[in-house]
Amino acid sequence: MSDRTGIFAGDDPFAIARAWLAEAEAAEPNDPNAIALATVDPDWLPDVRMVLLKEIEADAFVFYTNYDSAKGRQIAASGKAAFVMHWKSLRRQIRVRGDVTREEGAQADAYYASRSLQSRLGAWASKQSQPLESRAALVAAAARQGLVHGTNPARPPFWGGFRLRPLQIEFWSDGAFRLHDRFRWTRQADRRWQVDRLYP
Ligand SMILES: Cc1cc2nc3c(=O)[nH]c(=O)nc-3n(C[C@H](O)[C@H](O)[C@H](O)COP(=O)(O)O)c2cc1C
Repeated sequence: MSDRTGIFAGDDPFAIARAWLAEAEAAEPNDPNAIALATVDPDWLPDVRMVLLKEIEADAFVFYTNYDSAKGRQIAASGKAAFVMHWKSLRRQIRVRGDVTREEGAQADAYYASRSLQSRLGAWASKQSQPLESRAALVAAAARQGLVHGTNPARPPFWGGFRLRPLQIEFWSDGAFRLHDRFRWTRQADRRWQVDRLYP
């Protein structure tokens, strides 16, 4: 008999993640959807940075970035990533590890179109992760992109989404006396989830 109750209850880890994020949206002062995204480079050196989680789908998590950035290249080479989200006011974290593919279709176009014009032109102007001689050079590049693309720029081919399909999802919540609760969901070969409570 499982003792997975309360905030951990349910058969769908994506539904639990959505519910926790909704609580965080009410509790956190800023960026409740920020995730620390970890990748590995070709020398196996780990890398990590914050990005914003934009969609929790039926079986995947989606974020957006520049495909030529360091993270974009690392994901292209390995096909894998992990992330953690931590909410200080809720004292909870979610950890996710899995396989990553590009989202560069209509969904990416729609998300790109939903962003402010400055952000859309900024995406065109940024050679993300490459050396930049000055802030003025970036501002000038964005202005130039405005002249080239006008007020309705198309999504740049080098910018779009990544979809992470988890092999593991772990939910962690702070417990009294440091007896925290941890539940790890592991995807089986038949695509069902095995759920284990772990020592904290
Ligand atoms: C709260 C927060 C949210 C961010 N969201 C994104 C994002 O959604 N996409 C993105 O490309 N960079 C985002 N960044 C910037 C990244 O952390 C990082 O500086 C940039 O993507 C370059 O990373 P890379 O050189 O490892 O590819 C965010 C930074 C912070 C602090």
